[in-house]
Amino acid sequence: MHTIPVERGLSKAELYQTLIPQIEALISSENDLIANLANVTAVLKTAFDFLWIGFYFNKNNELVLGPFQGPLACTRIEIGKGVCGTAAAEKKSIIVPNVNEFSGHIACSSLSKSEIVIPLVFKDTTQMVLDIDSEQLNDFDEIDKKYLEEIIALIKKQHYA
Ligand code: SME
Repeated sequence: MHTIPVERGLSKAELYQTLIPQIEALISSENDLIANLANVTAVLKTAFDFLWIGFYFNKNNELVLGPFQGPLACTRIEIGKGVCGTAAAEKKSIIVPNVNEFSGHIACSSLSKSEIVIPLVFKDTTQMVLDIDSEQLNDFDEIDKKYLEEIIALIKKQHYA
């Protein structure tokens, strides 16, 4: 059984640097995508205590809820709508410092104040997005984007490349 030691007192970058090799070890020994994504959400939720973290899959050009940790969430999001659908359509990560200032933001929880969405793009198509919500305004920055994109790259390498 794996245990993920989460060390206290680390900077955000240091915490990601500690977690990424552990995530790589965890997912490289398992071929099932859902099992790996479920564990990735658990590791990140435990380490950072985000309000909500989860994946949406591109199924027939619509985003459909996948493994997540946190409160009940919207099950389907149109590509091009909300932060998730916009990141999926544009095939690039989006940081939203204040969700109330993002036109078309989809409020699954009224507690969410800021958000980051990272797409996994393979064969020029967004296959899934990683969505994270925070109860704090302005909670995500370029450090989160850099390391979360590394985690998405690990998932891509294991399951798509
Ligand atoms: N806020 C997202 C919807 C998904 S939930 O936050 C879990 C959006 O605007 O796409």
